[in-house]
Amino acid sequence: MTQEVVVISIGGSILIPDQNDSVYIGKLAEMLKKASEKVRVAVVCGGGKIARYYTVTGRELGGTEYQLDMLGIGTTRLNAGLLALALGDRSNPDIPTDVKTAAERSKDGFITVMGGTEPGHTTDAVATMLAKELGGGRVINATAVDAVYSDDPRKNPDAVKYSKLTIKELGNLVYKDHGAGKSSVFDPLGVEIAEKEKIDIQMVDGRNLEELEKAILGLPFDGTYISSQ
Ligand code: UTP
Repeated sequence: MTQEVVVISIGGSILIPDQNDSVYIGKLAEMLKKASEKVRVAVVCGGGKIARYYTVTGRELGGTEYQLDMLGIGTTRLNAGLLALALGDRSNPDIPTDVKTAAERSKDGFITVMGGTEPGHTTDAVATMLAKELGGGRVINATAVDAVYSDDPRKNPDAVKYSKLTIKELGNLVYKDHGAGKSSVFDPLGVEIAEKEKIDIQMVDGRNLEELEKAILGLPFDGTYISSQ
């Protein structure tokens, strides 16, 4: 039986917050290896703090949006390299630079890992493109916030937590314009692709490996379910 495809978009803020990162990435890799026996897992890594550092510093130096995006992409691939290293022979040691190559390498029991592809969007969008290339499936957004909220819960204590949303409702919550290093709850292009390709998105706290594992395996989890239908 063919396995269900699950593409995980994991933020750099989850992979490298500089809080026992090797311990976390090691445990994440073990969990992914186990989960990949039941579902087909692919992972797209974000840039996090180092992406922010490079885009801010590059902007101060007068870089164009294209140049800043290219710097950001470089950091996502570095982070992807770290996770691939932790996965050992269950993943690709060299990081694919486009979704077509990543999809070609994807197979049951193997965890394809990649970062960004080209300027103009973020790795959330890459995750939806990879899901499309793999013929559909779900996208799990493993982020620093445990769900989608009406506002940033770290800044606004009255922010409402959504457990379910439609893709249209998510679309109303995201920024419409891409800007290098600019962060949104989910990439607007990713929302557009998910809607068109009928790809469901699930938001979960990426540092909570128990909840992340449940989401990957299709079990009930604490987070936000975004239905594309
Ligand atoms: P991220 O995907 O980490 O973006 O890529 P982000 O919005 O900062 O991530 P999170 O979700 O909040 O953690 C970092 C930067 O790299 C460039 C963009 O400038 C992005 O802001 N990038 C990334 C691209 O231009 N293309 C890609 O395919 C991926």
